Amino acid sequence: MPPGAGVFVVLEGGDGSGKTGALAHLAPALADVPGGLLLTREPGGTGEGQAIRALLLARGVHHWDPQAELLLVAAARAQHVARVIRPALAAGRVVVSDRYVGSTLAYQGAGRGLPEAEIRTVHALTTGDLWPDLTVVLDVDPELALARGLARLRAEGSREDRFESLGLAFQRRVCASFLAQAAAAPERHAVIDAGRSIAAVHADVAATVLGFLRRKEGQGFAEPTKVTGA
Ligand code: TMP
Repeated sequence: MPPGAGVFVVLEGGDGSGKTGALAHLAPALADVPGGLLLTREPGGTGEGQAIRALLLARGVHHWDPQAELLLVAAARAQHVARVIRPALAAGRVVVSDRYVGSTLAYQGAGRGLPEAEIRTVHALTTGDLWPDLTVVLDVDPELALARGLARLRAEGSREDRFESLGLAFQRRVCASFLAQAAAAPERHAVIDAGRSIAAVHADVAATVLGFLRRKEGQGFAEPTKVTGA
């Protein structure tokens, strides 16, 4: 890998697809990557982004128009890219983000009906058109994901209302969009069947990302034995 050229990996999926758990298992497998690992997420990734996340997800407080929602996620992303992602990539790090612009295409685009071209224009303006090297999509049946997501939020006593307010038809459009994005650019995506056991999904995510880094960097990385069957 040339100096200053990091690798940008994103994990995407519908609500309740198991992304966050998969990332927690991926981190130890990537601990020794050359240049070092940066784990981050959207909306969030910066203090300012966290503030926007709270505005977007607060229960029953705000009812954003789709256009306003697009600009909020774009503002969080602009800050995240400028202050965190680009500097890390310039330092040669491997950046792994829990969600990125694929979520905007899925949620604000397919979910809330904004034209894809509009989202791509905003993305180009706010990030200098930074796209991930690899996006890993966790593909799960929206009904199963919705049930899982609701159970998790209830268990956490969360004040977010995204699942109830969006509903199954919305989640179906979101999941279909992630698959369509992957089909449109297969060289930059990997789709993982997330309806299987958690151990199998976590092992697959780690093997996919490590395999990609190995191919990209032409260097040896340890096999993901640390996460298999964990
Ligand atoms: P998360 O906790 O799984 O990251 O979920 C954050 C929520 O924000 C999730 O419902 C998806 C939504 N979201 C968007 O609507 N647009 C976006 O661009 C991003 C990054 C997230």
